[in-house]
Amino acid sequence: MKALVNTKYGSPDVLQLKEIEKREPRDTEVVVKVHASSVNAAEWHYLRGMPLVFRLASGLLEPRIKILGADMAGRVEAVGKNVTLFRPGDEVFGDLAGVGFGAFAEYIHVSENVLVTKPKNLSFEEAAAVPVAAVTALQGLRDKGQIRSGQKVLINGASGGVGTFAIQIAKSFGAEVTAVTSTRNLGMARHIGADHVIDYSQEDFTQNGQRYDLILAANGYHPISAYKHSLRPGGIYVVTGGSTAQMFEAMFLGPWVFMTGGKKQGNLTAKPNKKDLSFVKELLESGKVVPVIDRCYPFSETPEAIRYLEAGHAQGKIVIVMVDRGQKEKVFTHIDESKK
Ligand SMILES: NC(=O)c1ccc[n+]([C@@H]2O[C@H](COP(=O)([O-])OP(=O)(O)OC[C@H]3O[C@@H](n4cnc5c(N)ncnc54)[C@H](OP(=O)(O)O)[C@@H]3O)[C@@H](O)[C@H]2O)c1
Repeated sequence: MKALVNTKYGSPDVLQLKEIEKREPRDTEVVVKVHASSVNAAEWHYLRGMPLVFRLASGLLEPRIKILGADMAGRVEAVGKNVTLFRPGDEVFGDLAGVGFGAFAEYIHVSENVLVTKPKNLSFEEAAAVPVAAVTALQGLRDKGQIRSGQKVLINGASGGVGTFAIQIAKSFGAEVTAVTSTRNLGMARHIGADHVIDYSQEDFTQNGQRYDLILAANGYHPISAYKHSLRPGGIYVVTGGSTAQMFEAMFLGPWVFMTGGKKQGNLTAKPNKKDLSFVKELLESGKVVPVIDRCYPFSETPEAIRYLEAGHAQGKIVIVMVDRGQKEKVFTHIDESKK
């Protein structure tokens, strides 16, 4: 079987398409033919081993993980004798980040505990866009942000993978959502449910006098004191991503800045799990959430897809297609308004 292998740290050019062994499943394993995957920031962090502190976990001199790819959608091809939840032919999706990655390959061997039945109304490409970004948005809003109906929620970096899910998931919880994007993404943010939009190239939301119950920072940068200032009393600032400066400020300054004033900060490291992905699956099947896909790349062009994401201006998710069905362009036009 073919796999994209990275044996040293470097740019996406170090990825090599290689022929590797395809073995029979162990007793507790499921073999899935991968139809589609998608790219997340984790891929280029692992690929480059950057920031350097990252290598404490990913391998000091060379990467421990040799086949990247967390998001996956595909069809079960074979199952080990102790597998009870799936059968050959089942359509599944999942997040492999907690079990060593590996989706940038024609087949994966995984435990049934990381797989969820693919939403009926989604293609493989759409399903592969979901797991990491949507579960990150869910855990940021619900677990760290304690989101409640009627709250005013602001999403900074609302037009990327995490942000597009965050807008829709926050709406599904009954929040009044403000999305911060650049000019070209304002329409898309409204289309997927944002009640208010702010163009970050025209307006600094931390200076406009508005206050929010919950701010989810998915991308961009503002000083941590500015985020705190933009929260209502009792408000929560959740950091899921953004510039390196933002992440370091949140880690090292955050506990001091938020020590007073009755507001809180939560730093999220998303934890892949089947229960949360199943929760997201229900939102997808009910039409309350749809994946927003910027582009689909063929498997052989995965390095190009990673470069595109790394440039920082993807509009939604970047999908890798292993089994080509001809879907190439943006997908967000089929939102069912009646279900919003
Ligand atoms: N905590 C976790 O466990 C976890 C899990 C997954 C991801 N993450 C992190 O979450 C972050 C977001 O991931 P992602 O997949 O959504 O990233 P992404 O898809 O690469 O985000 C790209 C989007 O960010 C927008 N953006 C860029 N600069 C901005 C700015 N200054 N203000 C507002 N928006 C801006 C871009 O819009 P324009 O083109 O319009 O500028 C683009 O739509 C990353 O830092 C990633 O590392 C964390």
